[in-house]
Amino acid sequence: MEKIILTGDRPTGRLHIGHYVGSLRRRVELQNSGQFDKIFIMIADAQALTDNADNPEKVRQNILEVAMDYISAGLDPEKSVLFIQSQVSELTELTFFYENLVTVQRLQRNPTVKQEMLLRGYSDDGTDNKAGIPVGFFCYPISQAADITAFKATVVPVGEDQEPMLEQTREIVRKFNATYGETLVEPAIMLPDNAACLRLPGTDGKAKMSKSLGNCIYLSDPADVVWDKVKGMYTDPQHLQVSDPGHVEGNTVFTYLDAFCKPEHFEKFRDCFVGKKVSFTFNSLDEVKDQYRKGGLGDMMIKKFLNEVLNDTLEPIRQRRHQLEQNIPYVYEVLRKGSEVARAAAAETLADVKRAMKINYFDPGVLDQLIAEQSEKYAK
Ligand code: TRP
Repeated sequence: MEKIILTGDRPTGRLHIGHYVGSLRRRVELQNSGQFDKIFIMIADAQALTDNADNPEKVRQNILEVAMDYISAGLDPEKSVLFIQSQVSELTELTFFYENLVTVQRLQRNPTVKQEMLLRGYSDDGTDNKAGIPVGFFCYPISQAADITAFKATVVPVGEDQEPMLEQTREIVRKFNATYGETLVEPAIMLPDNAACLRLPGTDGKAKMSKSLGNCIYLSDPADVVWDKVKGMYTDPQHLQVSDPGHVEGNTVFTYLDAFCKPEHFEKFRDCFVGKKVSFTFNSLDEVKDQYRKGGLGDMMIKKFLNEVLNDTLEPIRQRRHQLEQNIPYVYEVLRKGSEVARAAAAETLADVKRAMKINYFDPGVLDQLIAEQSEKYAK
């Protein structure tokens, strides 16, 4: 069986470092591993519209932002198909057929949908003054199953919050195959293997990095903005004096270091730990953590180090982005071509689905058979 990746993001804002460690970095590694036959990366504008119906302009603007973030982070249009969801209308057809295989009750149990309903202030019973739930939003897990199965994806690299969507997809695949015959491929989720990357907290230490909380570091932030954000980061509220013992667990600076630090950074950024009063030589993150726990290592030193570590990753991304910003026609051409390729792939699956459901009445050979079958019925 072919090894195929499908994944994507909603274009509701620029991508931040939570997206990067949660999924984007892994996608680039998988792309460059050469182990996959096909890689599809989707900008999910139609899904973004399920709760932004009144603001299509926001979605439209962010398609380009996300595309530039993708390419500058290392997704290579020569190796991966980058495309726009709404341009592949086969996906909505598949969604329509899958909707018959899922109950309202099953959708209501989806923990991610539940959480998003709270976040967006949708009423869950329609009795209070809050806005009701748009049907399209309620059904988006089914549309996501269409996205994944349309490309016969075997692997879906995503963040932890997408786990319920993958579970829903597998259920639909099993139900479809059991009802209509073996047609669809059951996908596996691929989560980050590093705990810090599973759910990168915001710079304020809050559970999740999110645009609405204003606690993000964006891939496209200039170096001075990153430094301002790092300086303002939440550390350990009990670490008042440099000499006090510090806590590493729940300390956002260390969580980010866990997510971004590489062995070579200790040599490369040695100067960060050279101070006027005290200096340290560290060879691993564990040594930094031990010293912080003992006391004597100040927040400013670890923040300077984190800033260097972040910029080591972000600077090449920033530079590629500046180049892309000067070449907007190229970015749209990538998306246009990618959408064509994606459409051809999804059309094949849609044909398989219609064949399995026997609603391919006018396919070559099928009509003749149908006529023969019905004629025989009336000839009796
Ligand atoms: N739900 C994803 C997000 O919130 C975007 C998405 C849409 C997606 N369809 C997908 C991700 C299919 C993986 C596979 O960003």
